[in-house]
Parts: sequence; structure tokens; C-alpha cells
Amino acid sequence: MKKKFIVAITGASGSIYGLRLISALMKFPVELFVLISKSGRQVTVHETDFKSGSFAGYFGKTGYLEKSGEAFHEQANLIEIDPSDFFAPIASGSFQHQGMVIAPCSMNTLAAISSGITDNLIHRAADVCLKEKRPLILLARETPFSLIHLKNMTRAAEAGAIIMPPSPGFYTRPTTIEDLVDSVLARVLDHLNIDHELSVRWGSSQA
Ligand SMILES: Cc1cc2nc3c(=O)[nH]c(=O)nc-3n(C[C@H](O)[C@H](O)[C@H](O)COP(=O)(O)O)c2cc1C
Repeated sequence: MKKKFIVAITGASGSIYGLRLISALMKFPVELFVLISKSGRQVTVHETDFKSGSFAGYFGKTGYLEKSGEAFHEQANLIEIDPSDFFAPIASGSFQHQGMVIAPCSMNTLAAISSGITDNLIHRAADVCLKEKRPLILLARETPFSLIHLKNMTRAAEAGAIIMPPSPGFYTRPTTIEDLVDSVLARVLDHLNIDHELSVRWGSSQA
């Protein structure tokens, strides 16, 4: 059976993390459910070459995989869902999947998740992950963090979320923005139990 994942892009800076994550996951035979909040769409249009329209149309067959030149896996399937559609399968705990990533995760969405507020499908799907004990990875982005942000991260972590601020490592000597982004996404894929070669591993002969 195909692995199923959820990726959501919210209105924090760093939309490229979400776009490259979608591309990276689409290299595998996965069913990928993608959501973007209203602010997420605005920020993505501002920060990247994504214009309004559907993700499927934007990504075509390769998305952000220009580095490797590899195409998406022929069995990979991208399903975009409107964040107001509470009738979508991912709104229910009975729908099984292997994990959800919010990349980037705004402080607004973090606050909703850490207080159990589910007024859009991104919040609801995250809430379902926590109650069903499924992986929920939050690329929480703001700087500096206020005490409220830190407390919200603690509450979400106590409830089972993995807090992974997009803080790239420099020990692999990255030379491009894509290298920096991928050094974070490599850790995301590790936590989703995906065997990947997105970034050089410390201790490998290339490191
Ligand atoms: C260009 C731009 C960059 C932003 N960057 C951040 C950010 O890094 N972190 C954050 O928490 N909010 C940021 N915001 C504000 C969020 O978009 C705003 O709080 C919004 O309500 C988040 O909604 P959402 O969680 O539904 O996506 C940014 C807004 C804009 C226009």
C-alpha cells in the first residue's frame, strides 16, 4: 500500500520549505495531501515563483527537483485540499496516514494547534495527528520567539508534536539556498521514516 502523508503550508516566511518538501516526497510512491492556508498562499506568491492556481499545475512533473533533475515517481499522487473542507478524509481519525508536516508553521497555526482550536482543516488534521498519536512535524518559524510562542511550542511538544524550527546546519558547507533548505528537509524525511539522499549525512565519506 502507498504511504500517505499530509503537507500544509501556512503564512510564515519560508514557503520554499513546503514547496521543496512536496517535491522531495513526490519522488516516492506516495499519496500526498497538500493544504495551503490563505496567508500561506499570499506569502508563497510573494516569496517564490508560485503564482495562484493549483499545486498540481505548478509542480508539473518535477517541481523543485532541478538539482537532481529527477522526475516525480510515476505512482506519486498529489491531492490538493481546500483548508475549509472539513468533509475531506484527513479530517477524520479513521483515515490512516503516516504523518503530517506543516512547513513553514506560523505562530498563528502553532497557537491554534497548541490550544486545540480547529477552525480550519490544517488545524483539524494536526489535532487529529495528536489525538491519534501520528507524527506531526512543525517547522515553526518566527524570530525572535516570544514567551507565548515558546510556551505554545512546549504545549504542542508535550502533546506529541515534533518541533523542528527551520534552522539549517552549516557543517555540510552548503553553497545554495536549496542546499540549506534541504539540510532541514532531510531531517524531516528522517522523522517520516523515508530512506532518502537529500543531504549529506555527518560521518559519511562525503561529509
Ligand atoms: C511576508 C509575510 C511574512 C510573514 N512571516 C511570518 C513568520 O515568519 N512567522 C509568523 O508566525 N507569521 C508570519 N506572517 C504573518 C502570518 O502570515 C499571519 O499571522 C497569518 O495570520 C497566519 O495565518 P495562517 O496560520 O492561517 O497561515 C507573515 C506575513 C507576511 C505577509
